[in-house]
Amino acid sequence: MIEKRIAEILRSGQPDETVKVQGWVRTKRELKGFAFIEVNDGSSMASLQVVINETVPNYSEIIKKVNTGASVEVDGVIVASQGKGQRIEVKAESVQVYGDADPEVYPLQKKRHSFEFLRTIGHLRARTNSFGAMFRVRNAVATAIHQFFQERGFLWVHTPIITASDCEGAGEMFSVTSFDLNKIPRNKEGAIDYSKDFFARPTYLTVSGQLEAEVMAMAFSNVYTFGPTFRAENSNTSRHLAEFWMVEPEMAFCDLKEDMDLAEAFLKHIFKYVMETCREDMEFFNERIDKTVLETAENIINNQFERITYTEAVKLLEKAVEKADVQFEYPVSWGTDLQSEHERYLCEQLFKKPTIITNYPAQIKAFYMRLDEDEKTVSAMDIVAPKIGEIIGGSQREERLDVLQRRMAAQGMKEEDLWWYLDLRRFGTVPHAGFGLGFERIVQFMTGMANIRDVIPFPRTPENAEF
Ligand code: 4AD
Ligand code: MG
Repeated sequence: MIEKRIAEILRSGQPDETVKVQGWVRTKRELKGFAFIEVNDGSSMASLQVVINETVPNYSEIIKKVNTGASVEVDGVIVASQGKGQRIEVKAESVQVYGDADPEVYPLQKKRHSFEFLRTIGHLRARTNSFGAMFRVRNAVATAIHQFFQERGFLWVHTPIITASDCEGAGEMFSVTSFDLNKIPRNKEGAIDYSKDFFARPTYLTVSGQLEAEVMAMAFSNVYTFGPTFRAENSNTSRHLAEFWMVEPEMAFCDLKEDMDLAEAFLKHIFKYVMETCREDMEFFNERIDKTVLETAENIINNQFERITYTEAVKLLEKAVEKADVQFEYPVSWGTDLQSEHERYLCEQLFKKPTIITNYPAQIKAFYMRLDEDEKTVSAMDIVAPKIGEIIGGSQREERLDVLQRRMAAQGMKEEDLWWYLDLRRFGTVPHAGFGLGFERIVQFMTGMANIRDVIPFPRTPENAEF
């Protein structure tokens, strides 16, 4: 266990201090009688320069081994650096090489590798500058999320991964079974006999913790979930994962307006926290990945989001098509779901900022969303962001038992499958609302990364679950 991480040494280390440095070699430069190595331990973008000279025990053996990728422990003294771009360096007194890395075969060499290539070495890519910055930012976003809700008295609740219900009703669930796939029991009609399965019913990996979060909100008022969710949608896109993390706050005594206000304050808080704690990493993304990263962050923090209804959005889109300002692959008309090209036109071209679209037609949204007065739309809201599209989906929930029963019947759902959910409307029902933030979508939006596979350590996408 390291006493002092490299980030701290670089920040506050003083000449003559003795230090122990543990990490992985990024580069080696050999000169006559001495060598420089750059050591990184993941604590910062910058590596620490270590000078190894001939007086170090086993010098020639060590020098042969301290190649890019090798793991080392250095005991030494901090000295002022003569080199450009660094205040201090460490003069080694002893060096231990734990594991070398043959430069002939170690895949990460000092050059820029493409993200496509790095995906093929998912077990090593965390050792690059890009992924170092990425996973530090990811960690900061997670911290900001907990901080935001904890400061407001929300309870973090843990909802199940294995579930019997399809919250979103989209049929995109991965099945979970204890059956030996070669010996699946079947009844006389040939249907699978689930009474013999572990849970004695069909079960799946959850697509959302919302329904269970509603249960907890009906006791604790304000709660949130933060955990992995799974979708077997066959969308091989740069914005979909089969396994992604979702944050789902759920608030009792809350309407759609308050839901939107919370979501907007939440996104602003996350950006602010990351800009304060990961400035160097964000500057790296701005320089190397997308030149608008810092500007976007400032915009989010300082400007109000746009808010429009679905009906207004459709009118704007139709007008844009009419005036030939834009051509869409998919046609728009009231009643059809907005495609990501439509969402992106609105927030990228028209408003140039995150846009909250509300009150979608009931028939294209999930059964639990609250029916509006007009009986045509529901109190739903999606937040769409430039370059990404949807990052948040939420709604006020249907708290009226009879309306909910009608909505479920209309969607062909059986009441007995969700009797406990209906019970929440029988016993002490209240207006309530919540939303789901796609954790990877916000990290992607924030860092400007083009592909969602590069914002999660181990992406799960079609045909991809190796590491
Ligand atoms: O809009 P969705 O489907 O909403 C829900 O699941 C609600 N139950 C949330 C709630 O109200 N509690 O998903 C929420 C968010 C989306 O806006 C998107 O950011 C993200 O989850 N998301 C995905 N992210 C990555 N890969 C996927 N396949 C995703 N599907 C949804
Ligand atoms: Mg959605």
